[in-house]
Amino acid sequence: MKVLSVASEVFPLIKTGGLADVAGALPIALKRFGIETKTLMPGYPAVMKVIRDPVVRLQFDDLLGAPATVLEVEYEGLDILVLDAPAYYDRAGGPYLDHTGKDYADNWRRFAALSLAAAEIAAGLMPDWRPDLVHAHDWQAAMTPVYMRYYPTPELPTVLTIHNMAFQGQFSADIFPSLRLPPHAFSTESIEYYGHIGFLKGGLQTAHAITTVSPTYAEEILTNAFGMGLEGVIASRRDVLHGIVNGIDAEVWNPATDPVVHTHYGVTTLKNREENRKSIAEFFRLHDDRAPIFSIISRLTWQKGMDVIAATSDAIVALGGKLAVLGSGDPALEGSLLAAAARHPGRIGVSIGYNEPMSHLMQAGCDAIIIPSRFEPCGLTQLYGLRYGCVPIVARTGGLNDTVIDANHAALAAKVATGIQFSPVTAEGMLQAIRRALHLFADQKVWTQLQKQGMKSDVSWEKSAERYAALYSSLAPKGK
Ligand code: ADP
Ligand code: GLC
Repeated sequence: MKVLSVASEVFPLIKTGGLADVAGALPIALKRFGIETKTLMPGYPAVMKVIRDPVVRLQFDDLLGAPATVLEVEYEGLDILVLDAPAYYDRAGGPYLDHTGKDYADNWRRFAALSLAAAEIAAGLMPDWRPDLVHAHDWQAAMTPVYMRYYPTPELPTVLTIHNMAFQGQFSADIFPSLRLPPHAFSTESIEYYGHIGFLKGGLQTAHAITTVSPTYAEEILTNAFGMGLEGVIASRRDVLHGIVNGIDAEVWNPATDPVVHTHYGVTTLKNREENRKSIAEFFRLHDDRAPIFSIISRLTWQKGMDVIAATSDAIVALGGKLAVLGSGDPALEGSLLAAAARHPGRIGVSIGYNEPMSHLMQAGCDAIIIPSRFEPCGLTQLYGLRYGCVPIVARTGGLNDTVIDANHAALAAKVATGIQFSPVTAEGMLQAIRRALHLFADQKVWTQLQKQGMKSDVSWEKSAERYAALYSSLAPKGK
């Protein structure tokens, strides 16, 4: 089966979060099921810089107002279609935000163009290759099934994956004429959303199947609290909604071979983590003592509960924990975490920024990773934590709920516990979890058991890729 995947970020070409990891790993995991994926993504400067000898596959003189070229290239096992449209993507800032941290004013056009290019490829415009199915990710690609519905394309099945309901791509109705859709597309059955235009809304209405990245989140988004205004639309499409938990690329994330990890290890050589722990203490200027190092590797935002970390940092230190924080995001949260580090030299270290190698080393050296998210569609850092023996301490929500087994008495006795879950996401909830963690950590036998169970849990793509493959084949026309 041939699949066109459409995503606004793909690891290792460009990454701002988990979407990139998934868009980069899933096509590789699907190969085993005879699924050949080409991934369409924007030609940001970072992408254009690293690709070598691309082949021109398709040209548009006027893709929603600017010329564009589709280039095909092989990159680390991925078959990538780069949408090279300098007017849209050749910019100094990041994929979505300018250098001052503001959304690009024309994000609607940048990502509608990506979606329209995908629909044209689906229609067979690119010589010698047409997909059997199209899989779009998040709001940035969600207009793909919308364009496919209204453009005269032969009917092809479409899947839309929601990675985060908090980002919906909502815009003023004024842009409607520029989207080049027929007038009847501006309706509640399609992209209209309370008089505005919703890209994710349109995708949810028009895709043949909808998936999200964990079974718990698939339930949660049916409620007011998590549906973020789209719970009604989700409920109306419940029969085609699937929750499939993310996996991780077990080659990129392997403590036995990871090139940035100083000392490699496995389940039977956990002691080797000690050297990595020393490097972490050095980097974050933490005392090299026995007090556990709790790590945070995260966007510093309200979703991720980072305000709760800032509010409890003094208490975490008072209880006997140390904190190593790597992240960037909300300037106010960055400020309060840096202030906490200044108050507790040797006990709290904060590094503001995005640092992929350091994120690996932290998983390989820290004792635990705290993920206090208010909502978390799947979450990947707890999966990396499990694989690396960095015990996850997580809020009981979304994919965190589905992937970590809480160390309660029964689970400990049965030797199935892999981490700590807590709820609600409040200062008291957080500190209760920290107290439990410190108590477990004090008994090295119990803690090692937790680490080992985590390392043995299956966080690979294997089972989930099989579920995507089954979904694809249930949608594809017979005989494919
Ligand atoms: P989200 O996509 O909502 O941010 P995920 O847990 O799915 O959350 O994915 C986050 C990804 O980004 C993980 O691969 C994590 O290791 C990485 N990450 C987050 N912040 C940083 C950072 N400051 N430096 C390096 N990697 C980071
Ligand atoms: C989103 C979600 C995160 C998920 C990732 C990949 O960024 O916030 O929970 O793991 O997408 O699906």
